[in-house]
Amino acid sequence: ITAYFNGTYIDPADLVVPIDERGHQFGDGVYEMIRVYNGTPFMLEEHIDRLYRSAHAIKLQIDPDRSALKNTMFELIQKSGLTNLDLYVQVTRGIAPRNHLFPNCPVSVSMTVKPFRTIQIGENGAGVTFYPDERWQNCYIKSLNLLPNILAKQSAHEDGYLEAILVRDGKVTEGTSSNVYMVKNSAIMTTPLSKQILSGITRMAVKDIALQAGIPFIEQQFTPDEMLQADEIFITSTTMEIMPIVRVREKVMNMGKAGAITSTLRGKFNELK
Ligand code: PDD
Repeated sequence: ITAYFNGTYIDPADLVVPIDERGHQFGDGVYEMIRVYNGTPFMLEEHIDRLYRSAHAIKLQIDPDRSALKNTMFELIQKSGLTNLDLYVQVTRGIAPRNHLFPNCPVSVSMTVKPFRTIQIGENGAGVTFYPDERWQNCYIKSLNLLPNILAKQSAHEDGYLEAILVRDGKVTEGTSSNVYMVKNSAIMTTPLSKQILSGITRMAVKDIALQAGIPFIEQQFTPDEMLQADEIFITSTTMEIMPIVRVREKVMNMGKAGAITSTLRGKFNELK
């Protein structure tokens, strides 16, 4: 059993989602991706806070009883028999005959779990490229509408890169599914929180680690050119954790190795999880 849909635990292959489910017809919903280490969801409360924030931003009413949602998560984790896994949680505006206007029906809640593999590339770092940020004005909402993200990431992948770094008005915003950081003169710099980026949970962890370690954490935008002049670059997400970036397009950064500050952050992050 590795999936859940509106009250039923089931295998994903057996799961039939009604044709009038608004998640797939309109992308009318929000989601979270949560990593579970040794049976314990990492920063679960922060993820649930963000899920409710996203839902509120699109006028979607999730059951205010957080413990009911958490119970479902833990029950699915337990039924899966997995201990190290990624838990995907999605809430949509429900099942109703197709109509743009909000229906009067219960929201749909679905979840899936799958085991994760630690990406080995993390030791040596990965490459990134730039791509125009073609998304909408409300990127702080973790919405199901990921078409611009998917197109940018696919393009980067076809060119041999792990991630596309999105650029809006000449400045880096974030990755298609990650937050982006550069290190210059031993200080970390990253895009400030605004409607233009997702408030990453891993970003919160990195900020805490940096402040505790006395590493300056400067929330300020930078340009692709400034990024090319950086001492170190890394990106973060729930599934990539803290990923060193050692190539930006043709340019090899830090002689192709993860930098000292990136490695320090990675070490301290491993102690938290
Ligand atoms: N993506 N920015 C975007 C656009 C993202 O989609 C994500 C996460 C992040 C990093 O957030 P966090 O640290 O909370 O995972 C930043 C998830 C992993 C996904 O879409 O699968």
